[in-house]
Amino acid sequence: MKKVWTLAIILCACVLSAADAGPAGKAGEHALGTRSYDDYQTPQACAPCHVDISRQHEQAMMSQAYTHHWDEIEYFELAVPHAGREPKVAAVKAECNGCHAPIAFLAGDVPPPRPEKKSRANEGVSCDLCHTVTGYAGDTPFNFNWISVPGRTKQGTRVPGVESPFHDIAVNPFLKTAEFCGTCHNEKSPYGQWVKATHLEWKEGPQGKGGIVCQDCHMPPAPGKNATVGTTLPDVRQHLFHGAHDPGKLAGSVEVRIHPRVREAEPGETVVLVATAVNAKAAHKIPSGSVEDRVVWLHVEARDAKGKVWHLPVDKKGFEGEDFTIASGTALAYQDIGEAQGIPDFKGLRRDGSVPAGDRIFRMPYLDPKGRMTIQQWYTASFGPDYRLPPLEAVNETFTWRVPDDAAVGPLAVTAQVWYTRLVSSVAEYLKVPKEEVEPVLINTHTTTFEVLD
Ligand code: HEC
Ligand code: HEC
Ligand code: HEC
Ligand code: HEC
Ligand code: HEC
Repeated sequence: MKKVWTLAIILCACVLSAADAGPAGKAGEHALGTRSYDDYQTPQACAPCHVDISRQHEQAMMSQAYTHHWDEIEYFELAVPHAGREPKVAAVKAECNGCHAPIAFLAGDVPPPRPEKKSRANEGVSCDLCHTVTGYAGDTPFNFNWISVPGRTKQGTRVPGVESPFHDIAVNPFLKTAEFCGTCHNEKSPYGQWVKATHLEWKEGPQGKGGIVCQDCHMPPAPGKNATVGTTLPDVRQHLFHGAHDPGKLAGSVEVRIHPRVREAEPGETVVLVATAVNAKAAHKIPSGSVEDRVVWLHVEARDAKGKVWHLPVDKKGFEGEDFTIASGTALAYQDIGEAQGIPDFKGLRRDGSVPAGDRIFRMPYLDPKGRMTIQQWYTASFGPDYRLPPLEAVNETFTWRVPDDAAVGPLAVTAQVWYTRLVSSVAEYLKVPKEEVEPVLINTHTTTFEVLD
């Protein structure tokens, strides 16, 4: 134990002094190449003292923002080649990493080595990046417009302030704000579109207006110590950053209930069922963030007393662009992948992947400059209808269904399920994204019944 401590102290002392005092930091695109990797300490340098926080961070997507397969695939197989072919998006070759590998971006390492090379880009969003952020430039946080000033001073939040013998601490209330998160969780495309707006959605919603910030749900406080040699505190912020990659966080995040308008019907009669979906746990829309990738859908099935199953397609409401929100077995999209990869006349891929045709999809389609649906958020020139689930609001869907002539007499059960996948399956298959990264998750279900009469 003693040995570990001596080592930690020596290690910190020399790394910290090497990183001291830089010029006032630049923000956003202007920060490219203004620092070197050596200005920042590795997460391993913090780990000996901040053990629990370090282990939490290792398991969070933050530390995998550059190495996770889908990130690597999208960056190296779509964004980088696209940047070389389309001048309008040329800057993304560097700028994806303003959020995903910020230290590599600051060091001007463009593109950074592939993850297998184990360069420091692999640190992703690291301890020393977040804890050297002093504020942000401009009025709206977006496109990595944080300002980072690396060195011996770590930005913290405790008033009157805890002390570390190993680094200085600046008390910085900015870290307690949603705007801090918004610097990376809001993104504007080269076409001026808000292709990520988690912070902006939050600001409009009830929790945002009520002062419940991102940290309250994604970094909740627990009693304990934040450093092995630290003081015992009532409210240590847990570095969970759990989101769509955590089945437990997704579980129940959309609630669903379904009821029939009548409790009895004869075969051949038409019955209307109403399903209600509620975003009850998130303070932003569901889905949020990588909306272009995510598919959240409502699937309804009926099962009669003898076990025969029918799939119920959702009723149309008639709003503009609604077709994008109802799964189709035939529609193609993502033709712009061909533009990124240099494949002329790329026919596209199934727009809705394996979502059963007729199911309602809670989504906002991202459209490329030719008006086709895209998963390339940087190539987004406009949007289709925003049909996602806003926080603490309910959305009703109706299913008008003729009870089949061969439905068995007795109770007929109708089940509504809400599914979530992180990436539309057709794109995942085409780009060979590992199955476990995109496996659909059942996030809620509810069953109702009515009687089929003789
Ligand atoms: C050798 C031990 C040690 C190392 C290494 C270390 N810290 Fe600390 N750190 C501490 C101690 C001790 C405290 C004060 C804990 C307390 O009393 O609550 C602290 C507190 C902090 C705080 C909280 C300040 C506040 O007011 O909220 C932050 C943030 C922090 N450290 C970041 C870092 C980062 C980032 C690194 C790595 C670059 C790092 N530390 C490396 C020992 C260390
Ligand atoms: C320097 C940029 C940056 C900052 C600042 C930042 N994030 Fe992130 N965050 C990212 C990136 C990049 C990812 C995506 C990781 C991936 O999946 O590749 C991410 C992922 C997440 C996820 C996981 C989402 C999922 O799909 O599982 C959560 C939750 C999250 N961030 C919350 C926060 C909160 C809360 C804050 C503020 C306290 C914050 N982030 C600040 C860049 C940042
Ligand atoms: C009231 C609790 C709550 C607050 C406040 C909150 N979130 Fe979330 N967040 C959730 C839940 C629950 C999920 C999981 C459902 C989902 O993926 O949308 C989630 C998911 C996410 C995701 C993944 C979204 C996706 O579908 O890929 C990101 C990124 C994220 N949050 C970031 C933030 C940021 C940034 C803020 C502040 C601007 C914030 N959250 C505020 C509860 C919250
Ligand atoms: C995405 C940005 C981000 C990353 C990455 C990050 N932190 Fe933090 N950290 C924060 C924020 C924000 C707070 C303060 C939250 C609050 O008080 O509302 C914080 C708080 C802390 C605290 C004080 C906790 C408390 O409540 O007493 C310590 C210590 C700390 N971080 C260390 C680390 C270490 C070590 C790492 C890497 C293993 C790390 N952080 C990674 C954003 C980050
Ligand atoms: C302004 C900051 C920002 C920029 C710029 C940015 N991203 Fe992201 N990216 C994020 C955040 C934050 C998330 C997490 C959102 C969520 O979980 O819903 C994310 C998520 C992703 C994901 C999904 C990860 C997953 O596991 O589901 C991929 C892939 C990705 N980004 C690739 C890119 C590429 C390629 C670029 C450049 C063209 C880029 N990003 C530019 C912030 C950014």
